Amino acid sequence: MSYLSIRDLDIKGKRVFMRVDFNVPLARNEQGQIEITSDKRIKASLPTIQYALEKGAALILASHLGRPKGKRDPEQSLQPAAARLAELLKVPVAMAPDCVGPEVQAMLPAPGSVLLLENLRFHAAEEKNDADFSRQLAALCDIYVNDAFGSAHRAHASTEGITHHVAAKAAGLLMEQELKYLGMVTTNPPRPEVAILGGAKVSDKIQVIENLSKIVDKLLIGGAMAYTFLRAQGLPTGRSLVEEDKVELAKSLMQSLGAKLVLPVDHIVVEEIAPGAANQAVETIPEGRIAVDIGPKTIDLYAKEIAAAKTVIWNGPMGIFEKPPFDKGTVSLARAVAESGATSVVGGGDSEKAIKAAGVTSKISHVSTGGGASLEFLAGDKLPGVVALEQ
Ligand code: 3PG
Repeated sequence: MSYLSIRDLDIKGKRVFMRVDFNVPLARNEQGQIEITSDKRIKASLPTIQYALEKGAALILASHLGRPKGKRDPEQSLQPAAARLAELLKVPVAMAPDCVGPEVQAMLPAPGSVLLLENLRFHAAEEKNDADFSRQLAALCDIYVNDAFGSAHRAHASTEGITHHVAAKAAGLLMEQELKYLGMVTTNPPRPEVAILGGAKVSDKIQVIENLSKIVDKLLIGGAMAYTFLRAQGLPTGRSLVEEDKVELAKSLMQSLGAKLVLPVDHIVVEEIAPGAANQAVETIPEGRIAVDIGPKTIDLYAKEIAAAKTVIWNGPMGIFEKPPFDKGTVSLARAVAESGATSVVGGGDSEKAIKAAGVTSKISHVSTGGGASLEFLAGDKLPGVVALEQ
């Protein structure tokens, strides 16, 4: 795919509309103020923002936040993101009251300064990819830059429509980095390549399993979706989560994938999922028990596959990760990935939390900022926001 990088364009003195993904989690603090609980996505776009400012662009930032469904909602304002960005950049960040219209036009920044537009999704036209709204956004700028990999799976006005109305378009540095790593692990990766897939449902990952099975050497399965595969093998699953309507599909996946597909050989089981619940490791899930994590033999088996790998792709937890001690499988694999020395690409919020909990984030080659977008990429789908950047 051929697209330009922001580094290929002369942006000095130009109005640059940069689509970022500032869809950050918010919560009220004890004083009742709305606070950002993770500024990871803002930090991830800093290199592109800093680059544009250093080059003397007049920078207009735009993002969505939450799903306000076309209505103005002060609870989903990007104001906290403007404040955090100003702290991180150590320069003032002006905040527009809207993302289009005369008030915004009047606030357009001077070269070397930055304006953050208000939540794009306060307008229903954004998600409808409305042509008129796309034109209004495009009218704000000379150059369009997309750094919002996390939103690249959405064909919205600010990610797709706008690109048809601008004179020049390019990828930001974060977008480039995401595409470089995800592209590398899905096209001619150093081998052997191992994918670790977890999570609750086979149905969420079918396309990813099918697509990755054509690429990787081994697919290690964990999380509740493993129990649907166990059922498909005719093995007991107790009261573990099983997608009954996906058992036939699991059977056919096992047939077509053969030895590529690796399933857990033991499990941590409990009677009830409750804090401090007694648990034990078993090879066969007893009647009435619920499996909540992969067991120690599976950790060893998977860690050996990971140690031999030159490339690792990981998406999804191995157990009920949010309820320790049932995070052990997930955290152990995070350590194994870090120690393997393989090129590693991690996507999905829970795997990312596991990497953080294991204290190994810096040893992972790339942690994607896009949950949904990275899954669609791994499923082999073309992302509309990326296609729209093609020259
Ligand atoms: C995300 O958080 O995955 C992106 O920001 C996209 O958000 P959305 O799922 O609301 O489109």
